[in-house]
Amino acid sequence: VLGSEVLTLWREIIDKRLEQLLPKEDGGMPQLKSLYQAMRYACLNPGKRLRPTLCLLCAEAVGGEALAAIEVACAVEMIHCFSLIHDDLPALDNDDLRRGLPSVHKKFGEAVAVLSGDALIGLAFEVLSRAKGKPERVLECLRRLTEAIGVDGLVGGETLDILSEGEVPNREVVQFIHSRKTGALFAASCAAGAAIGGGSAGDVQSLHQYGDELGLAFQITDDLLNQSSSENQLGKSAGSDLAREKMTYPAAFGEDVARDMAMEAVQRAQQYALHVPKMQSELASLALFAVERLS
Ligand code: FPP
Ligand code: MG
Repeated sequence: VLGSEVLTLWREIIDKRLEQLLPKEDGGMPQLKSLYQAMRYACLNPGKRLRPTLCLLCAEAVGGEALAAIEVACAVEMIHCFSLIHDDLPALDNDDLRRGLPSVHKKFGEAVAVLSGDALIGLAFEVLSRAKGKPERVLECLRRLTEAIGVDGLVGGETLDILSEGEVPNREVVQFIHSRKTGALFAASCAAGAAIGGGSAGDVQSLHQYGDELGLAFQITDDLLNQSSSENQLGKSAGSDLAREKMTYPAAFGEDVARDMAMEAVQRAQQYALHVPKMQSELASLALFAVERLS
């Protein structure tokens, strides 16, 4: 089964739940309509839903029900979409296009963009707190996701990404950036799915490693696509890493080595997937999808 087919299968289920959890456009205060709209716009767009799909599959991979992880998966996607809103802001990457559409600040203005992101992260943890499952499992998800976004995760990686613009490419630094800004949330999405699915400590750890390697492969591929693809194909800006002198894998290692490193990370991810009881071929396909995707 192809990774893209696995994603198509789950996206409908994920989007249906997201759509229920997000504020309705006309549901609350009329004056806040643009806030609700911005939150929905950021989450219910043609993204890949890779992180929430991994979260659901990992619950199933350890012998649980995929749908037992739906709240956790939706929380993960809200965190991810929030991070993209902020990543695109003029103060950060200053990108006007995301998933083939104007970025949130282009469409709703900077103030509403910042605030809709803030609202999404709050909602993510509210949704997570209501996840079905043993309280200690829900708490483990909370710990893993908050760790993944903090100074040793997304925020730290993104800060270094921004502060390293224009610096001489350094292999250690770019490895640090990628493992934090991207690897951490992939790893936590997988581990949290496994945790809520009732996995053993060993299975949760294997899937954390799987997500970490998949995330590395994904972000190296992102760097390669930014360099070699087009805005039309990507649905977001192309060539921007070079223009902003970003510290990327191709900049630090060269394009060919970076491509090999991504493939090696996929193979390591697939090895980790062999440790879990179920869904090994789906997990292997999604790891491959991370490098074979064209957008
Ligand atoms: C996209 O990378 C950006 C990220 C993967 C992470 C962004 C993280 C933040 C804005 C911090 C979030 C804070 C919390 C609290 C969660 P990219 O710019 O290389 O990719 P792109 O081409 O898709 O923009
Ligand atoms: Mg960016």
